[in-house]
Amino acid sequence: MTMRKAATLDDLWSGSMLGVSIDGVPVLLVNLDGMIRAFEDRCQHQGVKLSEGSLRCGVITCFAHAWQYDARTGKGINPERVRLRSFRVDVRGDDVLVDVAEQEAR
Ligand code: FES
Repeated sequence: MTMRKAATLDDLWSGSMLGVSIDGVPVLLVNLDGMIRAFEDRCQHQGVKLSEGSLRCGVITCFAHAWQYDARTGKGINPERVRLRSFRVDVRGDDVLVDVAEQEAR
């Protein structure tokens, strides 16, 4: 387990998302309902960055072809058969830490 600093809370306002890179892994940070979540920043369709899409009403929408994901779980909404890889997150003070080596069970 290696937690790496991904951002600060100032970088990631409530209701927003942010794309970062940790050890070469594209990571999508989501701040929703007072919780920070981290998913792989890669659409399951053709691999574009979801951080370039939108986050509205708890739904991440890919800008390329509008595939949608639940921002709380990473589960596909449209289509339902996909799921984003998620990572363990910890917040220490103002720092958001992510472990890209360990996938979080959901
Ligand atoms: S690449 Fe995301 S919907 Fe096609």
